Amino acid sequence: MSDPLHTQLCEKLGIEYPVVAFTHCKDVAVAVINSGGFAVLGEAMHTPDHIAEDIKWIRDRVGGKPFGIDLVLPAAAPEEKTVEELMAMIPQQQRDFEQAIKKKYDVPEPKDAPDLHTWGGLDQKRALDQLEVIFDEKVPVFASGLGSPAFILDRAHQLGMQVWGLVGKPRQAKKQIAAGTDVIIAQGYDAAGHTGTIGTFSIVPQVVDAARGTGVPVIAAGGITTGRHLAAALALGADGVWTGSLWLASRESDLNQPLKERLIEAGTEDAVFSNCISGYTMRTTRSPWHDEWASADAPPVLKPPLQMMLSSDYIQGSLDYQRKDLMTEAAGQGIHYITEMKPARQILSDLVEEALDVFDAFADDDE
Ligand SMILES: Cc1cc2nc3c(=O)[nH]c(=O)nc-3n(C[C@H](O)[C@H](O)[C@H](O)COP(=O)(O)O)c2cc1C
Repeated sequence: MSDPLHTQLCEKLGIEYPVVAFTHCKDVAVAVINSGGFAVLGEAMHTPDHIAEDIKWIRDRVGGKPFGIDLVLPAAAPEEKTVEELMAMIPQQQRDFEQAIKKKYDVPEPKDAPDLHTWGGLDQKRALDQLEVIFDEKVPVFASGLGSPAFILDRAHQLGMQVWGLVGKPRQAKKQIAAGTDVIIAQGYDAAGHTGTIGTFSIVPQVVDAARGTGVPVIAAGGITTGRHLAAALALGADGVWTGSLWLASRESDLNQPLKERLIEAGTEDAVFSNCISGYTMRTTRSPWHDEWASADAPPVLKPPLQMMLSSDYIQGSLDYQRKDLMTEAAGQGIHYITEMKPARQILSDLVEEALDVFDAFADDDE
């Protein structure tokens, strides 16, 4: 049998394993890239200068190997607003509710302004300024985590960049393929972070069908934390996997220790689907913030980006003061399988070994 893990994605990127790590941590990204996988660094929270520094930092450590940067391009966000203007748009009812939660759980105030205040999803201007750095640096792969990247395709292709689109619905995939997107990530409901309602097992084959004959590789995402998931994704016709939760508790991950412990302890049912963090549906670990917004006396959740502005102090305060009882983080249903802190290289090799064992077992059955 030829190597079942050597897919067209490996050819397209010159990588050994069809495993993409989505991470906010540069050390994780570099470890995965230098171990034969591919990594996309989430930079939506950062200023253009910070993004430029991170790109240089990665380039200095991967010896010319390709990497990606992920931003969000939310078409529904306002054109340009300061943090103060956005804050002023938050109605008193929701403000009062936030204050009541903080009082009830003794939530500490963040030490500095939360990172979320530089999130590219707050307005169009922030996202477009972040994008300019991606073009200036001619980043090998640009991935759009939220919103269609169709409007940047020509410019990116002229610069020799690949553009990847993350979708949660087959019709979004069809549109993005027709527009010329280079790679489609089909992300299912199981996933961490912003996600739609179609399960991974349902969306991946539908997007694979939509891409058939176009030469556009499809990457499966959502709940992939073991080699069995990797083998299953390839069996569904995907050319690789895009993984987020898998790396959160890795040795290299810069999350603080109590949060890593919380993630290691968490099971599938702790990874809840709610719009209470950002106003978009999102999968994150359950916390008092979730419980309160799900209660009968909670006011309506605000539309993006206002809900993110409202939740950011709670999130940052819990992290700054290592309040494990309050913490929440984006996490997918596959978090059940995150049970220890391992180096990223080992996480990748365990994933690959287990997938190969699955394929070997099928091959043995045929003999
Ligand atoms: C902590 C965390 C933050 C995330 N932030 C983003 C983001 O900024 N942009 C994005 O495109 N995806 C983001 N995601 C989602 C991932 O790109 C990926 O689709 C998801 O983690 C896949 O599901 P899995 O966690 O079950 O592997 C995030 C995921 C995690 C775990």
